[in-house]
Amino acid sequence: MMYFGACYYPEHWTPKQAKDHIPLMKQARINVVRMGEFAWNRFEPEQGRYRFEWMDAVIQALHKEGISSVLCTPTCIPPQWAVQKHPGMLQRDAEGRVRNPGSRCHCCKNAPEYQMLADRIVDQMGRHYAGMPGVIGWQTDNEFGCHRTTRCYCDHCQSAFRDWLLEKYKDTDSINQAWGAAFWGFEFQQWNEISLPRHMPAGPNPSHWLDFARFSSDTQVKFQRAQYELLKQLCPNHFVTHNLMGGFPEIDYWKLAEYTDFPSWDNYPESGEDPFLPAYQHEITRSFRGRFWVMEQKSGPTGDANTGLMGEQPEPGDIRRWTWQAVANGADGVCYFRWRACLSGAEQYWHGILDHDGVARRRYREVAETGAELAKLGDALAGTVVQTPVAILRNYAMLWSAERQPGAPGFHYDNHCYEIYRAVKRSGHGCDFVDIASDLGKYAVVFAPCACLVDKALADRLDAFAQAGGTVVLTPQSGARTPANTMWAYPRPGAFVAMAGLTVEEVRPYHHGQTEAIAPAGGSSPVPAAAVENWVEVLTCREAQPVAQFAGGRLKGACAATRNVRGKGTVYYLGVYLPPAAMETFAAAVLPPFPVADIPPDVEITRRTGKQGSLLFVINHGRQPQTVVLPKACPELLSGGTPGPEIKLEGNQVLVFKL
Ligand code: GLA
Repeated sequence: MMYFGACYYPEHWTPKQAKDHIPLMKQARINVVRMGEFAWNRFEPEQGRYRFEWMDAVIQALHKEGISSVLCTPTCIPPQWAVQKHPGMLQRDAEGRVRNPGSRCHCCKNAPEYQMLADRIVDQMGRHYAGMPGVIGWQTDNEFGCHRTTRCYCDHCQSAFRDWLLEKYKDTDSINQAWGAAFWGFEFQQWNEISLPRHMPAGPNPSHWLDFARFSSDTQVKFQRAQYELLKQLCPNHFVTHNLMGGFPEIDYWKLAEYTDFPSWDNYPESGEDPFLPAYQHEITRSFRGRFWVMEQKSGPTGDANTGLMGEQPEPGDIRRWTWQAVANGADGVCYFRWRACLSGAEQYWHGILDHDGVARRRYREVAETGAELAKLGDALAGTVVQTPVAILRNYAMLWSAERQPGAPGFHYDNHCYEIYRAVKRSGHGCDFVDIASDLGKYAVVFAPCACLVDKALADRLDAFAQAGGTVVLTPQSGARTPANTMWAYPRPGAFVAMAGLTVEEVRPYHHGQTEAIAPAGGSSPVPAAAVENWVEVLTCREAQPVAQFAGGRLKGACAATRNVRGKGTVYYLGVYLPPAAMETFAAAVLPPFPVADIPPDVEITRRTGKQGSLLFVINHGRQPQTVVLPKACPELLSGGTPGPEIKLEGNQVLVFKL
């Protein structure tokens, strides 16, 4: 079943204002609402006195009209009494400043009082709602780490960090060794000498910093795990999810998603922005557990609580297109944020389906039309999933390492992953994301962008995948560092040398916008001529063959990219960051064929496959008409016709074909 919903805050409305909400929801075919994530103060107005009847009444009224409820644990904002009583549970930033109450996300997940109070409210809510008709699942908290609060520098965190390190390293000698703490006299004799990487005159030891990033992420995961396990025990018939933030970099979502039945994410695209950015985050979120929801889908102008600025109005057709894009990339539920714009508070400007006055206008009508379309395709969508032969390795420790030490100015690990992703998408293929221990068996091609933290186990896994017939693509900075974030004392690309069949002779970060020309080399090269910047590596081939070389200047003739035949497969090493057009050419050459060729730049094509065949989604994200040629004419499920094989798409148009 496809869930189609809205985020609803009954505590923001008087009964008179709320009177018309449920009939309007029903007319728009909304079948689920998410509620309660900031209402701890209403659920527990005094410590230990719980009030659920106000929410029960809403759940029951919704249920009567066939609308289910996803409840949230409200732990993101403890009531004022809790903070007054336990001020020590407030977070501190790296400079030691308190993160004060008055907004949200201000409590430290390592503070024992906060953990205890959070545990109690989750327990009470779980018990109260376990058997209530209409409640189908839970969202824990809200967007862990939002407003850059993943990393807290308070004393609770300091002592929890020491415990975390003790568990990982057992003794100070091991930690000194792992961190290379001889540098700048950073060696420890006692655990209580270790502190957090708080504000200091120069940059922290990268290994210390990476462990702090890991610890901070683990803190969020531990908090999620506690709620997940408690809710699963109390409410075995409900699902438990958390609303992630797509490409948010600070939490290892691979680990966090293990403690969900499926993850969700919150999608706020801008009209006219690069349409593959939301797709990237849909596919990242789907990859954690194979399915996902969009728990907050933008449905009106945004309204930034910090700047006070109101975002742009979605253009006609945008909300519908964003919704179908989520479904096309595998979402099984889409909930709009929010049902109606709030009259008060920091997000007054953050609009929903309805404006402040609650009048159903253009955006409401578009949501209602989309709801009707989704209901029409419900049977065809049931049991279908996205399958793809392409994977990108996206690992959070590598991201954190590169965040601290990008090497060259402007380098960003996630942007690099995204550039590869975009190139793959342009070929028509979807992408799964994988982590270092994921099973690669179902893929034909695995990109491992900037795989900088590498041990033998990861190299062996990728090598085995290549030897068995797969294609691996490595890019600059690969294999340079140990998992502890120290440098390997071996030639780059370290543990990848054997599978890539090369060594790196020289690395060259470019600081002043210099470019190098590269040209194809060898016989049939997948690498086109291009101008590259930021960072280049000069490669010395062993078993590998050059596929690109530098075409001018001091590096003229030196090797820039290689191909190595490895067992039944192939390993490419790109010693340069290919610009977008060149990356598209490269991806098209190394990926399996896709049934639709020459896809226009604004058009996205995806497939969901089930027992009864595949659905092909064709979405024109642009404003101009586009033409796509399908392999043959197929039934189009939204219009009921059988157009093609040549298809004309209007701007913002979505078509769904049955293959
Ligand atoms: C996030 C949060 C919501 C709301 C919206 C709009 O996604 O989860 O609570 O704040 O942003 O700001």
